[in-house]
Amino acid sequence: MPRQFSPGHPAKKIERRMASDYLTKLFGLEGQVAVVVGASGVLGGAIAEGLASAGATVVVSGLNPDRGENRAQLIQEAGGKATFISADTLSRDSLVQLRDQCIEKFGRIDMLVNCAGVNSSVPYEEISDEDWQRVIDTNLTGTHLACQVFAPYFAGREEGGSVLNIGSVTAHLPLSRVFAYSASKAAVLNLTKNLAREYATQGVRFNILCPGFFPAEQNRKILDKERVDNIIGQTPLARFGEPEELVGASILLLSRGAGSFITGATLYVDGGFTAMRF
Ligand SMILES: NC(=O)c1ccc[n+]([C@@H]2O[C@H](COP(=O)([O-])OP(=O)(O)OC[C@H]3O[C@@H](n4cnc5c(N)ncnc54)[C@H](O)[C@@H]3O)[C@@H](O)[C@H]2O)c1
Repeated sequence: MPRQFSPGHPAKKIERRMASDYLTKLFGLEGQVAVVVGASGVLGGAIAEGLASAGATVVVSGLNPDRGENRAQLIQEAGGKATFISADTLSRDSLVQLRDQCIEKFGRIDMLVNCAGVNSSVPYEEISDEDWQRVIDTNLTGTHLACQVFAPYFAGREEGGSVLNIGSVTAHLPLSRVFAYSASKAAVLNLTKNLAREYATQGVRFNILCPGFFPAEQNRKILDKERVDNIIGQTPLARFGEPEELVGASILLLSRGAGSFITGATLYVDGGFTAMRF
C-alpha cells in the first residue's frame, strides 16, 4: 500500500510524474510532424524510422523517389505515419515547395532534420574545383538553405520548432583525405550554434548531432582496410555504429519535453572517438 502524501509534500510531485506517462511526456512525438531531408539515405532513414516510432508523422524527403517511397511505405506497414515528398537541398524553390506541401497536407511542421550529405575522398592536391564545390554546396549550403526556408515558419508559430543538423566528428577534428567534407561540417557546426543564438527568443532550437563512423553508401569507398583498422583502433567501443544508435540522441535533441532547454548543443554519438581527443 503506497504511503499517502499531503499535496505540499516533496514526494507528491514525484508521485504525480510516476502516475502519468513520464517517458511519453519527455520523449513522445505523437501529434507532431517531422521533416527529414536525406531520409532516403542510411542514417536519415534510421532517424526517420525512429521519429515515427516515437509517434511523429514523418515526411521522408530527399532526391531519390524510389528509396524515399520505399522507406515511407515500410514505416506505414509497421504502423507508423510517413509520406515521401521529394526535395533537392540545393534548390531554394524545391525546399519552399517541400515546406508548403507539408503545411498543406498536415497543417503543421514541428521539426526538421537536415541529413542530406555527400563526401569525397582524395589527397588534397587532387581535389577538383567541381568536387570541392559539390561537397560544400550539398553539406553546407544545402543545410543553410533548409534552415533559412524552415526557421521563419517555426518562428512564426506559437509552438516554435526544432532543427537538428547532422555534423560529423570531423566538424572538430581533421581527418585525412576528406578536406572539403571536414570543412563543410565545421561550417555546419558553426552555423548551427549561430542560428541557435539567433532564434532562441523566437522559440526555435537548433542542435547538431555528430556521428562517428557508420558504414553507409557515401563512405563505403573511403573505408579501405587501413582506414577501418585506424578507426576501430581509435574508437574506445572498438566497432562501427549502427544507424539505429543515432535515434535516441536525435529524439532527445528534437523533443519538446526532454529537449526544451537544449539549444546550440553538439552531441557526439561516436563510440568514444572524440573522448580520446578533447
Ligand atoms: N555514415 C557515416 O559514418 C557518417 C558519419 C558522420 C556524418 N554523416 C553524415 O550523415 C548524413 C547522412 O549520411 P549517410 O551516411 O546516411 O549517407 P547516405 O549517402 O546514405 O545518405 C545521404 C542522403 O543524402 C541525399 N542527398 C544528397 N544530396 C542531396 C540533395 N541535394 N538534396 C536532397 N538529398 C540529397 C542522398 O540522396 C542520400 O539519400 C550526411 O550528412 C553525412 O555527412 C555520416
